[in-house]
Amino acid sequence: MAISEEDIQKVREASDLVAIVGERTVVRQRGRDFWCCCPFHNEKTPSCKIDPSTQLWHCFGCGEGGDVFGFIMKSEDLNFPDAVRYLAERAHIDIVETGRASMPSSLKARLREVCALTEEFYHAQLMRGKSPEADAARAYLGGRGLGGDVPKKWMLGFAPGRQSLVRFLSSKGFKPDEMIAANVAVQRDGGRLNDRFYNRIMFPIHNPQGECIAFGGRVVGRGEPKYLNSQETPLFHKSSVLYGLDKAKNAMVATGIAIIVEGYTDVIALHESGICNVVATLGTALTIQHVRLISRHASKRIVYLFDGDAAGQRAADRALGFIDEEMTPEAGKSRIELCAVTLPDDLDPADFVAQRGADALRTYVDDAKPLIAYGIDRRLAAHDLGSAEGRTRALSDALSVLAPIKSSMLAKDYAIQLAGRLQMREQDVLDALAATRPPRTYEQRENESPVAREQYSAQVGLSQSELSRRKFERRTLSLFAQNPAYALAHADVLAQTEWHDSLHAVIAERMLSMLERNPQATAAAIVADAALVDSRAAGVLTSGSIGSFGSLESEGAFLADELAIGDMEASLASMRAQLSPSIPLDETEREIMFQAAVDLQKTINARRAAHKLDPFQ
Ligand code: UTP
Ligand code: MN
Repeated sequence: MAISEEDIQKVREASDLVAIVGERTVVRQRGRDFWCCCPFHNEKTPSCKIDPSTQLWHCFGCGEGGDVFGFIMKSEDLNFPDAVRYLAERAHIDIVETGRASMPSSLKARLREVCALTEEFYHAQLMRGKSPEADAARAYLGGRGLGGDVPKKWMLGFAPGRQSLVRFLSSKGFKPDEMIAANVAVQRDGGRLNDRFYNRIMFPIHNPQGECIAFGGRVVGRGEPKYLNSQETPLFHKSSVLYGLDKAKNAMVATGIAIIVEGYTDVIALHESGICNVVATLGTALTIQHVRLISRHASKRIVYLFDGDAAGQRAADRALGFIDEEMTPEAGKSRIELCAVTLPDDLDPADFVAQRGADALRTYVDDAKPLIAYGIDRRLAAHDLGSAEGRTRALSDALSVLAPIKSSMLAKDYAIQLAGRLQMREQDVLDALAATRPPRTYEQRENESPVAREQYSAQVGLSQSELSRRKFERRTLSLFAQNPAYALAHADVLAQTEWHDSLHAVIAERMLSMLERNPQATAAAIVADAALVDSRAAGVLTSGSIGSFGSLESEGAFLADELAIGDMEASLASMRAQLSPSIPLDETEREIMFQAAVDLQKTINARRAAHKLDPFQ
C-alpha cells in the first residue's frame, strides 16, 4: 500500500503550510515569515516560525519542527501515509494506492455547491425580496451609488436570516454538516441550526476562477460589527484570497499593474468608474501569498492605496513590515515592485472617485512611491524637521524602515538621500544605519528561548566550546537543508566535516545521499527524508534560517569556515597529545609530526585571522 513519490510531491505542492497552520491557530506575518503560538506546547507569545518559501516550520520554544506532513502527523496524530492521505483529501487530489481503493474527495465540491446556491439565494432576496428589510437594503445600496446593474454584476445579496437559508439548502439536499463546514450556518451547543448571516447585505467572495467560496456581510446602514466575514473553511483561506480578483485579473494582465484597496465597496466603486485592475484584501494585512497571487497576473507593480483616515494610516504602518531583503535589487530576482500611496483628506477610494473622478485617482496611482521611499516619507512627516532634535528623531525613525535591509546598497542609497534631506553628513547617516538594530531574527529568539537553552545545555558535561561547536553544526545542517541548491554546491562540507554530534553525522550522511539521488530535492523533502531515520532530525533541520549574516553565501561561508577551523584544531590537539613526552615516538616521526603541527597551527592562525566573528557569539 505504498503511495508513490510523485503523489507525495503533488500533495506537498498543493498543501500550503501557512494556510494549514492558519486553519488551526492564529498566524501572523513578520517580514517574510509567519509566526504562531506553538500548537504543540503551551505558550502565550508566538515562538513557532513558518517559512513560506521552504514550507518548513520550527518552534524555538520546544525545538519541534518539520515539513507539512510532519505538522499534520503531530497535530492530527497520524502516521506518515495517513498524513499524506489527509492532505490529499484536503487538496482534492486523488492519490493512487496499490491495494487500496482511493476515495474521491468530494467534500470541497459539496462546499462549492453550498456557496454557489447560497450566493444565488441571497441575490434573489436582494433583487426580489418582499420584506421591509430587503427594501431597506436596496435603498441603502441605491443611496450609495451601488444600485442599477451593480448588484447583478457583483452578485450582491441580502441575507434575511431566520433560518431561511438553512431551509433553502435543506430542500436542495444539503446536510447540516455541509452548511456548517461552508460556514453559512451555525449551531450552538447542539441547539437549532441557524443561518450565519442575518439582515446583512452580502458580498460574495470568489476565487480567481470566479467560483463563490465565502461571503462578507455588511450591516444595512450603521451597526457593529460593520462586516461579518466567513471564517476559514476548506475552500476559503482569508490570507490568500483577494476580493474582486476574478474580475480584475484581465485588466491586471493588460496593464501590468494591480491596485489594492481596503474595502469591498472600494473595489466595486473603482471598477464601476472604469478602473478595473483593483482588488481588496479581506480586512487583513497584505501577505506574501497575496503578492504571489497578484504577480501571476500583474507583472510590473502593485500599488497599495491606503485610505486617508486613521485606519488607513495604521494599515500603511503594517505594510512597512513587508520591507525585507527580497525587495532589494541584490536579491537578484525580478520581483514585482511594491508601491504605496495614501489618499488625501480622510477619503477612501470610493469617496475619492465619487468626488474627483477616475482620472484624478489614476494620477495618484501613477505617483505612488516604492514602499521603502513611502515608508521613509511617512516617518519623516511625523517629526519637526525645523529643529535639530526633530531631525535626529526623524533620522532614527526613518532608519528603522531600512533596518531589515540595512546591509544592502539600496539601504545605503536611501541613507544618503536622507542625509541630504536632514542636512546631515552622509558618513554620519551611514554610520547610524550600520548601527541600527536589525529586526529580531531567529538567532536572537533562539538565544532568548529558555526551553531551547535548557534543551541544549541538557547535553550535560559538555564544555562551552563543545556546545557552541554543536550549535554551529546544527546551523550548518539546517542552512543546507533549507537551501538545497547551496548544499549541492557545497556538498564537500557535508562530506568532510567531523560531526561531533552523532545525530548530526546521520543527518549529513542522509542529506548527501538524498541530494545524490535527487539533485532537485526541495527543502521540505530533505527534512521529511531525514526525519524518517530519526524524528529529531526535523527539529534540527528547521531550527535555523539566514540570520546573523544576512545572506546565504556569507553565512554559509562563515559556518563552513568555523567547522573547518574546529576540525583543524581538533587534529592539532591530537597531534599535540601524540607529541607528549610520555608517548614513545621515534625521533624522525616526532620531527615530522612536530613540523606538521607547526604548519597546522599557522594555517589555523591565518584562517582565524581572516575569519569573521559571528555577530551573535
Ligand atoms: P472599511 O470600513 O473601509 O469598509 O473596511 P468598506 O468596504 O469601505 O465599507 P463601507 O464603504 O463603509 O461600506 C475595509 C475592509 O475591512 C474589512 C472588510 O473587508 C472591509 O471591506 N472589515 C471592516 C471587516 O472585515 N470587518 C469590519 O467590521 C470592518
Ligand atoms: Mn469605505
